[in-house]
Amino acid sequence: MSGRLASEYSSWKKLQGIYDSQKSTLVLKDLFAQDPERFAKFSKEYISKDDPSTTLFLDYSKNLITQEVIDTLLGLVREAEVESYRDKMFAGEHINTSEDRAVLHVALRNFNDFSIQEAGADEVAGVLEHMKQFSNAVRSGEWKGYTGKTITTIVNIGIGGSDLGPVMVTEALKPYSKRDLTAHFVSNIDGTHIAEILRLCDSERTLFIIASKTFTTQETITNAESAREWFLSSAGDKAHVAKHFVALSTNTKAVTAFGISSDNMFQFWDWVGGRYSLWSAIGLSIALVIGYDNFEQLLKGAHGMDKHFKETPLENNLPVLLAIIGIWYNDFYGSQTHALLPYDQYLHKFADYFQQGDMESNGKFITKNGHRVNYETGPIIWGASGTNGQHSFYQLVHQGTKLIPADFIAPATTHNPIAHSKHHRILLSNFFAQPEALAFGKTEEEVRKELGPNASDTLVKSKVFEGNRPSNSIMFPLLTPSTLGALIALYEHKIFVQGVVWGINSFDQMGVELGKVLAKNILAQLEKPEDVKGHDSSTTGLIHYYQKFRKE
Ligand code: F6P
Repeated sequence: MSGRLASEYSSWKKLQGIYDSQKSTLVLKDLFAQDPERFAKFSKEYISKDDPSTTLFLDYSKNLITQEVIDTLLGLVREAEVESYRDKMFAGEHINTSEDRAVLHVALRNFNDFSIQEAGADEVAGVLEHMKQFSNAVRSGEWKGYTGKTITTIVNIGIGGSDLGPVMVTEALKPYSKRDLTAHFVSNIDGTHIAEILRLCDSERTLFIIASKTFTTQETITNAESAREWFLSSAGDKAHVAKHFVALSTNTKAVTAFGISSDNMFQFWDWVGGRYSLWSAIGLSIALVIGYDNFEQLLKGAHGMDKHFKETPLENNLPVLLAIIGIWYNDFYGSQTHALLPYDQYLHKFADYFQQGDMESNGKFITKNGHRVNYETGPIIWGASGTNGQHSFYQLVHQGTKLIPADFIAPATTHNPIAHSKHHRILLSNFFAQPEALAFGKTEEEVRKELGPNASDTLVKSKVFEGNRPSNSIMFPLLTPSTLGALIALYEHKIFVQGVVWGINSFDQMGVELGKVLAKNILAQLEKPEDVKGHDSSTTGLIHYYQKFRKE
């Protein structure tokens, strides 16, 4: 992030030249035919230095790249001074300039390897110890509810980063979960969400975890108040709240005002971004579900990837490679989206999680220096787990008019080897087949041969797969807490690298503010038609329509 627009870098211009002159020759079928070493050249294995059983294998050979493209993209990373910004992040410099904050999710999973001076970094171990004691007490049954019964249900109330990370990780690590402890997550302000969850809860055995960095988020506070009201309607005495409500927040004052004692508060710090907070106290529901030791493994897995990102030369650096390949499609091929396609049911929330992680971080058109970019920044992130996606949107990915780069993600082995792993072999056969089909397609000639001489031209044409559709494949031995930690950190750092190249601040989220302010104003006008003022005719008309049906 040298202060210049990315498009002003000489390597950007060179990349544009390569794209313009070589686009038609960047054909995967030919590139693989020309170079038998292509897979070896364009694949890398990450092996954690601390725990060699944690590995991630990245195959990026099925991308529209040559060594020259990669080298020039790495030149872009150097011109943007990514390494220097990375070191600033790890050192705790205030790289979130608009909010004058450090960006230190890496400090939450730092096992004494990095020296970080920022205030609060030395308190991380203490909060982890608090989380350990508490989660052990609840899981062992030592922590009792107001009638002396053990806790069998937890309800995390939070939204955005205070919800998506815990949801994704508790789903992903279900094999490690305490099966007789049920976890629910309430996020939406729509009363339906909390109403349906409360129906499943017994007030004597339920622990509510109010997760909010700011403790001012309208959805979370409203849901928390409704949960407290529901709880008190059976518990009666406010003193019982202490056994059933805990808070995860940076805002002690607001937590105390809500009625949760500071003993039941798990602290974190303003240098933890919401979408990077699952490693902090926000991960309490994770620790409760999978146990503290597994939570620590998750942190350690991420820490291993942090070290890899910090210490590995750019050309072997997995987050950097993912980032530059994404930039190649986003900024030169004009791809609007990027799909995350895990072939693992346990990762079914992975794309949802990184929708916030990536889009809230890099969905920005103003650079850190206040200039409007003249190139594309963050892509639209979407996806679903395989093979479900194959029966819904893959048609468009294979034969639609859009180029959709995708990451296919799969474990080599499964936690559920039912029918002698028959399911897993079928799953993986699809995981291997889809990138192959996307890359190499099926020619008209092949289709004709298959259908025979009497097939109509229309039928033949509709069965052609043009191919040359790029993807990455990421594999690992088994989805363990440590592997998941490394995988999440891999994507976090990818997002960081892209943000630095594009010159934007990946760590604020000003774009969520305007709607919130307008909603607050509208909320005060919903009662009477004559109160509805200051809007365009469409918004006014819609509010008036609502007022015709309003009941209370
Ligand atoms: O969507 C805006 C946002 O600020 C996110 O960045 C954050 O994860 C979410 O709201 C929830 O915020 P909080 O944890 O403060 O309730």
